[in-house]
Order: sequence, then C-alpha cells, then structure tokens
Amino acid sequence: MTTQDSSVKIVEQIKQPIAFEMELFEQKFQLSMSSKVALLNRITHYIVNRKGKQMRPMFVFLVAKMVSNGEVIERTYRGASVIELIHTATLVHDDVVDDSNRRRGFFSVNALWKNKIAVLIGDFLLSKGLLLSIDNNDFDLLKIISVAVREMSEGELLQIEKARKLDITEAVYYEIIRQKTATLIAACCSLGAASVKPDSRHVEEMRKFGELIGMAFQIKDDLFDYGDTAIGKPTGIDIKEQKMTLPLIYVLNNCDSKDKKWLINSIKNHNRESKRVKEVIAFVKTNGGLEYAISKMKQFQSEALQMLEIYPESEFKESLKLMVNYVIDRKK
Ligand code: IPE
Ligand code: IPE
Ligand code: MG
Ligand code: MG
Repeated sequence: MTTQDSSVKIVEQIKQPIAFEMELFEQKFQLSMSSKVALLNRITHYIVNRKGKQMRPMFVFLVAKMVSNGEVIERTYRGASVIELIHTATLVHDDVVDDSNRRRGFFSVNALWKNKIAVLIGDFLLSKGLLLSIDNNDFDLLKIISVAVREMSEGELLQIEKARKLDITEAVYYEIIRQKTATLIAACCSLGAASVKPDSRHVEEMRKFGELIGMAFQIKDDLFDYGDTAIGKPTGIDIKEQKMTLPLIYVLNNCDSKDKKWLINSIKNHNRESKRVKEVIAFVKTNGGLEYAISKMKQFQSEALQMLEIYPESEFKESLKLMVNYVIDRKK
C-alpha cells in the first residue's frame, strides 16, 4: 500500500461517524455560493469542483457530535458552510498576496482570471458567509467567525511586515501562525460546540483545542515548502516571497554570524535566484531546521490531544484523535 492510499484510508475512518453530515454539507455548501451573476457562477463552480481536504467542516461536525452525544442541528451545517466559505475566500486572496499560480492541483483563481477578479471573488465568498449567519440569526456563531476573520487579516499583515524587515523571532512566528491559521481552526471547534451547546464550557475548551491543532497544522504546511513532493500547490516559494518560517528562523538563530549574514543577504537580495534559494533550503536542512520544526509541531499535537482527555470515550472523540494525528502525518 502506498502512503497516499493509507492516507485515504485514515480519512475514511475519520469521516465514518460524520459521513451522513459531510455528504449533506457538500450539497449545502455548494448552494451557499450561488449567485445571479454568470461570471461569478462560472468561477464558484470551478472552485467547488476542486475541493480541498475539508478538514474544517470535519472539525465542526466531530466536535459538535462529541459534546452533544451525536446531535447535529441545522445551525451546525450553517456554521460549517460559513467556515468553509471563509476559508475558500482567504485561499483565493492568499494566492493573490503570495503570487501563487497553483491551488489544489489546478490553476489558482488569479492564474486563470487575474488578480482583479480574484480579489472580488474572495470578497463575494466572504460576504456570502457572513450573510448566511446573519440571515439565520446565528449571531453567536457570527461573533466567533468575525473574530477569526479579523485575526486572519492581522496575521497576514504581520507576516508581510516581518518579511519586509527580516527581523522575525520564534515568538513572532507563533503569533503570525496563530492569527493567520490557528484562529480559524479554533473557530471551527468552538463553533461546532456552540452550535449545539451554546454558553457551555465546551465552547472555550474546544477553541483552545482547535488553536493548538491549528499551530501544528501551519508548521506542517510550512514544512511542505521545504519538500519536493506534489501537494497541489507550489513548494519552495516561501523564501522567494521572503516569508521566514520556523525551520529558517531556528537556523538563523543558531548559526554563526558569518552564515547568518549570508542567509539574510540571500533572502534580502537574491530571493529570486532559484540556485541561491536552493542553497538556502539545503543549508536549513543540514542545520537541523526541519527536525526542530517537527519537534515543535509534535509539542502542539500532544498538547491538543491532552485537551481531549476530559471527554468521555466516544466514536467522535476517537475520530478527533485520528484527526489530530492526520494534521501532522498528512501528505498534502
Ligand atoms: C491551506 O489550508 C491554508 C493553510 C492554512 C495552510 P488547507 O490545507 O486546509 O487547504 P485545502 O482546503 O485542503 O485546500
Ligand atoms: C495560509 O497561508 C493561508 C491563510 C491563512 C490565509 P500560506 O500562504 O502559508 O498558505 P498556503 O501554503 O499558500 O496554502
Ligand atoms: Mg500566504
Ligand atoms: Mg500561500
């Protein structure tokens, strides 16, 4: 069995207790994007036909079912759709910001329709998401989501600011990934809980749980950039974009001043030269950058798993545990 096959098996196993919900979710999600404008419909069709891993709705349903012994209501579906709409919107915008032409194994929206249209599509998806909550009076869920949207924008901007100055520390890196990625996964988990048990202690507990997973999730994503396996989006572009992630930050802080000068100079003045970028990547690899990032990722993973311990055993909790492990073992 190839690693790809075993990954598919794990995902099937994770989805088993929410198979019905995920199927219904897909129909609802597709409907949630509809518009009367032909160009918009053409593009949203293109997007839904190239779906991602859908990990965020999976978190919503698994958490909702874990805290309610298997009960899922209409609000839970709406919350899952809002989250996936917002996730999709941020990916469309992210590919403009990162000047990336691939997403989910195909061309990105900006690659096919240019930046102007990609910006507007992202705004459309975001507004559709917010309206889905508003039109149904899900104001408690809307609050959770809006906090995540604000933080994601702040995280992306903090990342750009640091890329310009090249003065990032490990603590700032964690703040960036907490804001740009972990908050949305935190929102999935707290919203899943809030949809069925509003005002319960689970809402905050699950937010924290999701935040820890989100941290591990983004470290994994940043590690992919150092690899050369096919993940459906470009690899090796972070240094080109002067984006400093954990493997590089660690190496920068743990090498002698001559190497540090060379690294900074490479990123600052030679980031568009593919030979030089490859040298930087090789330097990071031989100096333990990947191992360090992996160890930090595993710390977040085990903290997340610990948070599940207080919950009674159930098939939903089992799936959530598998999900936490999948975040760091996944192949794309
Ligand atoms: C990609 O998220 C964006 C990050 C936060 C790293 P996913 O890896 O969940 O993207 P899809 O939805 O599966 O394509
Ligand atoms: C994650 O940023 C996407 C957002 C949180 C908006 P990245 O730029 O690191 O994600 P990928 O690798 O392009 O998916
Ligand atoms: Mg980005
Ligand atoms: Mg990107």
